[in-house]
Amino acid sequence: MKTQANEQSSMEAQLVRDSEQEEDGMGDTECEICKAFLTSSWTKDFDNLCDWYTHLLKKSSTGSIHIHVLGNIVTADPGNVEHILRTRFENYRKGKLFSVLLGDLLGKGIFNVDGDLWKFQRKMASLQLGSISVRMHAFDVVESEVRTRLIPLLLSVSGKQRVLDLQDVFRRFSFDNICKFSFGFDPGCLELSLPVSEFAEAFDLASKLTAQRVLAPSSLIWKAKRVLNLGSEKELKQAIKMVDEFAQRMIKQRREMGFSDTHDLLSRFMGTIDDDKYLRDIVVSFLLAGRDTVASGLTGFFLLLSRHPKVESAIREELERVLSATSPSPTDDRRFVSFDQMREMHYLHAALCESLRLFPPVQHDSKSAQDDDVLPDHTFVRKGTRVTYHPYAMGRMERIWGSDCLEFNPDRWLKNGRYIPESPYKYPVFQAGLRVCLGKEMALVEMKCVILAIISRFNIRVVNPNQGPRFAPGLTATVRGGVSVLGVKGYLLSLENGKKFIMNLVEILSGEAKVVDVELG
Ligand code: HEM
Repeated sequence: MKTQANEQSSMEAQLVRDSEQEEDGMGDTECEICKAFLTSSWTKDFDNLCDWYTHLLKKSSTGSIHIHVLGNIVTADPGNVEHILRTRFENYRKGKLFSVLLGDLLGKGIFNVDGDLWKFQRKMASLQLGSISVRMHAFDVVESEVRTRLIPLLLSVSGKQRVLDLQDVFRRFSFDNICKFSFGFDPGCLELSLPVSEFAEAFDLASKLTAQRVLAPSSLIWKAKRVLNLGSEKELKQAIKMVDEFAQRMIKQRREMGFSDTHDLLSRFMGTIDDDKYLRDIVVSFLLAGRDTVASGLTGFFLLLSRHPKVESAIREELERVLSATSPSPTDDRRFVSFDQMREMHYLHAALCESLRLFPPVQHDSKSAQDDDVLPDHTFVRKGTRVTYHPYAMGRMERIWGSDCLEFNPDRWLKNGRYIPESPYKYPVFQAGLRVCLGKEMALVEMKCVILAIISRFNIRVVNPNQGPRFAPGLTATVRGGVSVLGVKGYLLSLENGKKFIMNLVEILSGEAKVVDVELG
């Protein structure tokens, strides 16, 4: 725990050292928060940095805190979030810090740019992701991956002595999908044999090493290593080279095959862009956007569901209701729902929003202030300060969600059985305002497909439900050590955080789910 926490601290501290603008309050060791941060003393009481920040934000009278030594204002106040993401959007940008760190991997992709480059990509991608035909295509892609890979894989381990990491399964699943969607290429990561995909590995390594740059004691070190082509920077360069070669192959193939009538994102952008490097940057950003986020959302959902069998039953009942409203043809598999049927499942939607509230895949997101400013809660922001909104903490604020804020309660999203959305500034899980996530609808559909496919066939239980996840440092929330499962006579045994639990995975044949919780120790 200590090591992880220290890594998080040093990652944060590096952000400070790297920021040329963040002079405000550097070395403010008088501040208790800064002291606790610098000495890592918070790790005595908290497993995760995000939990400590949540604790501090809860205690703050404004809903914001200032980590002076990081030059970072962290806020959980919805008014501040709206101010940053909408009202004064022009003042809060990505800035130089992250674009330098992520630049080698993401180049000029949408995640890493501001201004005109961002506007152009945003417009093009909105057209792509907003179109009904593309959404239907995305649904077909996901459904096929569920039917032909995910279910056969889970069935293959149910009742067998075989270890699976549920988080890894979801990452493979979402990688196949996002590659098919972005390039029209199928890497087949979720085939039964769980093959090693060189591209997925190179992409993983490149993302990991890019995130690790912030762990270096000083930016000078990774920059020097990059110039000299040494160690992790050499590895990163090689991994990025593989990603580049792969992307170039995809682009070349698309040009040869013709791209005018295909649905994938690459084809859409190729209609207007000739520059292959720019095309590569655009697509790589999408891979990053759509892979780990979806896998993380699904992992959080199943961790929560395993503690709340009533929610699971309610989703099953809703599924039955929706399916029985239509008369199936004799060949229909009653456990697959159509795109339209899924839209009628308000409880499912509420349950998913609720799990993302408690386990947002992007736990915090930072912007850089271009000019001095004052936030609505009267916090002064000096030019160059990093301002971070914190969806993880916001999901745990009594002042936002009421006294039951820590409970997993899908009903809070429903009125007379219908889903009622919340203000995105109160719930910035997909960000909000002008840069709100473009893949939100697609991600929700993808996750719902997986959820329905699994819970209409299996029960999943984690025996020690009070064990909170420990997160690995990185750009997206990932459970440290994974969520491994081992098929034992109809059950899946989960080894979470190094501890053993049984996950009960029983195929439902008669409509009756048998729930047996057994702890192995
Ligand atoms: C549960 C799944 C997802 C979550 C929680 C999520 C969350 C977010 C967040 C917080 C941002 C803002 C990041 C930043 O500006 O630093 C974002 C941006 C974005 N997301 Fe997602 N995302 C998800 C899935 C997806 C998927 C599947 C796609 C693509 C198919 C996607 C495409 C994008 C794009 C293109 C942006 C950049 C928008 C812009 O800068 O204008 N996302 N997402």
